[in-house]
Parts: sequence; C-alpha cells; structure tokens
Amino acid sequence: MARKHNFYAGPAVLPVSVIKKAQESLFEYGDSGIGVAEMSHRSKQFDGIVDGALASIKRLYNVSDDYGIVFVQGGASMVMAINALNFVTEGGKAQFVDTGTWARRAISEVARSKAEAEVIWSGKDVAYGELPELSDLTFDPKADFVHMTSNNTIAGTQFRDFPKTEAPLFVDMSSDFFSHPINMNQFGMIYGGIQKNLGPAGSALVIVRKDLLDRIPAGLSEMLDMSVYVKKGSMYNTPAAFTIYMTSLVLDWLENDIGGLENMDKINKEKAGILYDCFDQSGGFYRPTVKNPAHRSLMNVTFRLADEALESTLITDATAAGFIGLKGHRSVGGLRASIYNSCPTESVREFVKYLNDFAAKNG
Ligand SMILES: Cc1ncc(COP(=O)(O)O)c(C=O)c1O
Repeated sequence: MARKHNFYAGPAVLPVSVIKKAQESLFEYGDSGIGVAEMSHRSKQFDGIVDGALASIKRLYNVSDDYGIVFVQGGASMVMAINALNFVTEGGKAQFVDTGTWARRAISEVARSKAEAEVIWSGKDVAYGELPELSDLTFDPKADFVHMTSNNTIAGTQFRDFPKTEAPLFVDMSSDFFSHPINMNQFGMIYGGIQKNLGPAGSALVIVRKDLLDRIPAGLSEMLDMSVYVKKGSMYNTPAAFTIYMTSLVLDWLENDIGGLENMDKINKEKAGILYDCFDQSGGFYRPTVKNPAHRSLMNVTFRLADEALESTLITDATAAGFIGLKGHRSVGGLRASIYNSCPTESVREFVKYLNDFAAKNG
C-alpha cells in the first residue's frame, strides 16, 4: 500500500514506526500471549505503559510534582465542561481570549455555569485571522481562571508565548500539544484532545496544578470531578487503554527518534516555512488567511486561492494525486494543511511541488 500524504486536522497522521509497533502489539504485547487491546487496565503491563507515558510527559515538558497528569475520556470538550463545573465560583468569573470556535466552546461552558464568562478580547470582527498583543490584555487577578487556546485549528493562528497571570492560566493545547518547549510552571492547567499531535482519538490529556483541586466543590459526579481523575491515576473507570498505549509510543518517538521538543520545534518551523514560502512566491495565486507572520500557526496552515472558484478543483485534483484532508473547516471554507508533529517534511515538500505545478497550470 502506498500511504497518502495526510493533512487531516485530527484524527491525523501518525508516525509510521509507531503504527508498525502498534500493529505488532495488537497481536501480542511483549511476550504476554495477548494483544495490547485485550489486556486488563489493572494489569502490571498496562501500569507499565501508563507509567512510561507519564515519565515521558514529565521529561518533555519538565513537569514538577506540583502537577497531576491524567487522561480524560470525552476529549477536550469534556475537559471544558469539567472546568466550568470544577473551577468557577458562584458569582465569580473566568476570563477568556476568544480566538475562534474552540475558545467559544470553552466560553459557552462557563456561560451556563454559576459564574460569568468574561471575554477580554475577541477576534470575531477580523474573522479570527489575527491575535491580540499579550501586553494589551488586562487580566483580573481575582478571576477564577483565565482561558486561552494556544493554537486555533480552524482559523490557523497560534500563540507561542503566554502571559503571566495572577489567576490560574488554563490553556487548551489540543492542536499544538508537544510541538515546542513550554514553561509548564506558568500554567494552572494545560489540556487537549490527543487525536492531533499525540495519538488516535479517544481521550484528552490534562496537566493540572494539584493545589487547584482543593477548589472543586463537593457533591459532583465522580466522573466530572478532576480531583477523582488525579487521585485515581485516571483509573476511576476504564480509561481509553489503546489510545493511551499509542500515545506512549508517540511520546517515545518524540523523545528517541526526534530527540525532544527543541528538535521538534525546529522541524515544525521548517515544515511551515516551506509552505508559507510557497505562498509568498506564488505571485498572489495562494493567499495565507493569516496576514501577520507572527500570528500564523505552524500546525494548521490555512489559505485561499486568489480565484476562490478554483479551490474545489484543487481539492479534488490534489486528493486524486494523493494529498488528502485539505478542505478548510466547514465553518470557514478555503483550504487547510494540518502539518502536525508526525506529518513528514517529505509530505510538505511533495505538496509544495504539487502546488507549484497547479499554479503553473492554472495561473
Ligand atoms: C483547539 C481545539 N480545542 C478543542 C477541540 C475539541 O476537541 P475534542 O473533539 O477532543 O473534544 C478541538 C478539535 O478539533 C480543537 O482543535
């Protein structure tokens, strides 16, 4: 089978070496005589898998013992719902930077809670194609939490720096998790769906400062109480065991094949650079939707054609040529190439050759 060049926004491409290893383990994990998806989540082998994943996460993000690391089924959307139940106070407020669809989902969860969802900046009037200057934002030290989305999967913008806030800073990192080094100590919580940069769908990963768990009101359902996830080591009920296993393989790949997050960041910058350069050199044929290079995502490269009527032709023709997942999100249209960690540089190079040919034929 010839593997296609996969630019889907998530679930997304995974490293070939990881898929091959998972393929073997599906039949037999080590010499256990059973496959990894057939093992008890209370077994020694599965404990080893989870411990290995947590150790990788700690090393990659330099996570101190002040933080708990857990897997939460239901994805990033479930974490948003849990946050609105766990971390806001009656009559209090959470502050949000509204950078698009996913930020708005987090806002809507708090908006239906006992607290106020205060939007301190919104990119709505500029179709979410720009980001604010962090120094222009005013944060309330008394807020229950401040919420940001690091990478806006649909709009194609990305924050690489974060503000210092007195209130705990919660960041949804679904679409740029583990794509570059961060200073973990500046966050109250980071979280994200696993299905873009870390593995297959089925779970979110949450890293949360343990002292914040004391704020959780009593009486919540255990499944909606973040302290239960931390206390029970993600095992209050059956976790998404196979997803966690594959995540452990992706984390190993990040550490051992890529050589850590600084290297990953270099590779990601190179890949995105190849695509944005192609647009710059296309004489306006291709137009990045995010004008300011400092705001552009290294993960989700969104663009349009000067002649928008040609976009569907490009998508159909590119798909036939083996470049898949290029359609922009249904809410915005246009095109989007998602070039997460596991997307090979070679896929991006081949795609740029294709784009140059398409422009030469249709320009
Ligand atoms: C930035 C961001 N946050 C949240 C979500 C929702 O994630 P989930 O489907 O895991 O709930 C997505 C999904 O694409 C996303 O891109």
